[in-house]
Amino acid sequence: MTSEPLCLFHLSDIHFGLEDRDALEWVRGEILARRPQAVVITGDHTMRARHHEWAAATRWITALEVPVTISIGNHDMPYFNLIERFFAPYKRFEGVKALVEREIDLPGLAIVPLKTVRRWQPRLNWSKGWVTQAALGRCLAALDALPAGTRALVAVHHPLREVGTHGTALTHGGERALRELARRGVLGVLSGHVHDPFDIAEPTAEGPVRMIGAGTLSQRIRSTPPSFNELAWDGTHLEVTTRNLEHLPTPEMQIADVPPDALPPRAPGEPVAPAGRVPPVDPPVY
Ligand SMILES: [Fe+2]
Ligand SMILES: [Fe+2]
Repeated sequence: MTSEPLCLFHLSDIHFGLEDRDALEWVRGEILARRPQAVVITGDHTMRARHHEWAAATRWITALEVPVTISIGNHDMPYFNLIERFFAPYKRFEGVKALVEREIDLPGLAIVPLKTVRRWQPRLNWSKGWVTQAALGRCLAALDALPAGTRALVAVHHPLREVGTHGTALTHGGERALRELARRGVLGVLSGHVHDPFDIAEPTAEGPVRMIGAGTLSQRIRSTPPSFNELAWDGTHLEVTTRNLEHLPTPEMQIADVPPDALPPRAPGEPVAPAGRVPPVDPPVY
């Protein structure tokens, strides 16, 4: 139990190269003023992992002056240079290497990473998530090693839900991972990738897991304006507030279901937040 609630900022999908500069300037000011105990950035720091994009991301992240942990997203490994992607996928973010998939231990609360990207996948679409047995094993070992009574938030890039058929699963191995996390009673799973915020209780055979998604801080908006999540943990309750420059209330910003991809809804029935700011054309991916 903590005396003062812990304050965490959960940011995601900044996509340097197509970042929203006003939103980023605002978030940076909020971090410097509020000094959260930790900032969790759940991946997609760049558009195409170009050197200048990673240089900008590194400058922004390392200037935050608070503990930061970052997850690697599908946009963060070399895209055009496959040799580098296979043999040195993390070379371009040398400047934030110490922050990559780093566990942060706070009083009574730990942030534990779980990797959901791979250098390659035995399917055509490498943008989707994949939890390997090894990655899950590392995460579970870290959870099992926490002191008794310490709660955990697990940080991933891709939401762990599997949707549709096996071939189009949002995250291969996600269901098994969610079951294992449910068994260990994690407080929640923090994710990015879909660019709209959500806060959903996902049922599993081992009980529900809270899945908390942060929106984007880029121009690649889906159905909500740029935002980040502010988390307050008082030792009993975890409160999630979706902060945005338009001051829309959190329920307006959250989608009620996780879409299969990080693209604006273009077909009937795709999840859209009540804010409904769907861009008329898909944001560019270049
Ligand atoms: Fe993204
Ligand atoms: Fe992504």
